[in-house]
Amino acid sequence: MLIHEVTNREVELPEILNTVGRVADDLGLEAYVVGGYVRDLILDRSSKDIDFVCVGSGIALAESVKKALGKKANLAVYKNFGTAAINFGDFELEFVGARKESYRSDSRKPIVENGTLADDQNRRDFTINALAICINADRFGELIDPFGGLEHLKQKLIKTPLEPDVTFSDDPLRIMRAIRFATQLQFDIDSDTFRGIVNQKDRIKIISQERITDELNKIILSKVPSYGFKLLFTCGLLETIFPQMQKLHGVRKVNGKAHKDNFYHTLQVLDNISIATDNLWLRWSAILHDIAKPATQRFNDKVGWTFHGHEDLGAKWVPRIFKKLKLPLNDKMKYVQKLVKLHLRPIALVNEEVTDSAIRRLLYETGEDIDDLMTLCRADITSKNPDKVRRYLANFKKVENKIKEVEERDHLRNFQPPISGETIIETFGIKPSRVVGEIKSAIKEAILDGEIKNQEEEAFQLMISLGKSYGLSPKSN
Ligand code: CTP
Repeated sequence: MLIHEVTNREVELPEILNTVGRVADDLGLEAYVVGGYVRDLILDRSSKDIDFVCVGSGIALAESVKKALGKKANLAVYKNFGTAAINFGDFELEFVGARKESYRSDSRKPIVENGTLADDQNRRDFTINALAICINADRFGELIDPFGGLEHLKQKLIKTPLEPDVTFSDDPLRIMRAIRFATQLQFDIDSDTFRGIVNQKDRIKIISQERITDELNKIILSKVPSYGFKLLFTCGLLETIFPQMQKLHGVRKVNGKAHKDNFYHTLQVLDNISIATDNLWLRWSAILHDIAKPATQRFNDKVGWTFHGHEDLGAKWVPRIFKKLKLPLNDKMKYVQKLVKLHLRPIALVNEEVTDSAIRRLLYETGEDIDDLMTLCRADITSKNPDKVRRYLANFKKVENKIKEVEERDHLRNFQPPISGETIIETFGIKPSRVVGEIKSAIKEAILDGEIKNQEEEAFQLMISLGKSYGLSPKSN
């Protein structure tokens, strides 16, 4: 069957496929495009990464394609892997000879031999990733689909081409990939395939944390990431790869009083925030905002369940979790830590008479991340009762307006006190000392409390009078 008959729409195959096909014909090689590119072509998700397989030497094909494409093409050859890559404009072209693979139990690195196209399709992870399109001139556009991948694309189904235990045991990263593709494409996982995942999940231990986290981040960046976490939870993998999140699951009841299930609440917050932002780190802050709730959970006869200090403890855990998951230990981590720590603050402002001073303090602590903090807090408003959510959101809007008003007036984003330590030292002719810090902090407090404006002149006057109370007077020049 030809590719345009398969897709039932005008599919424009890029000219580059004809070029590679012609070169393959000249070399007398059978050549195909395979894997993710074919899947995405049928799903109408455009991609510029194209994998070519030929029956013969992938490197020889790539070298001839480079010659045909001329100066604009950059070729890299990986002799050890028997592969080659060409960068050509927006395109990333990968070339490999068709392979047959066999695996040992202690490694995901296969023993590789030359093989046929059928061997190559056999070794692939899912039926939807095992489709190939021939690019030789006489069969151009012919789809080779030995495992019903096309039907599974229609059914929205992730299924392994071989016995699931074999596919997952050979390469356990595919467990994460199955869940990632299901989440990204909003597909189901076939029940036998899911059973294979459950059987083989402990083999994930031979996979590096970086690769696992790479897949996890792709799940988190999907449209509805909660689906992936539910699959990870159900197959039993969440407990291994992210035990702190697993611990959020469950509800305890004392004297008939239960609390929210923090796992499902967190997933709701994550889905909510994913509508508002594609920022991976803001999505991570949603995942981690309540992470320390189980550890701080107490029951009190009068007020029921409390989670005092979960925001501080959660923020303290962030570096540990980032280190374990091999997430970057840099400003991204600090950003997530800050948002976890401050996530209750705007909500608290909803419940009280909002003073300018409380808003100024929040602006001072969040700096340029105030908008992201507000996005997190808005996403955190979840309840089974829609009226309650509506009421909360309306009050929350008031806080947002107030923040805008105070910010426009007082210019507190990235607030730097208008009087520096050096100015204090210079003015009074004193040495660096505790007094300098105290005067500086009293000026900051006066600005945040609204006693003086965020302005150098007023701050300078206050500094002079604060100096007096320490027995200091400006030195005369
Ligand atoms: N593949 C596999 N097992 C793996 C990784 C990859 O069988 N553990 C095969 C699949 O056929 C896949 C192809 O190699 O389609 C290319 O892999 P990759 O580029 O990682 O994934 P894509 O399917 O292209 O999807 P994405 O770009 O979204 O990762």
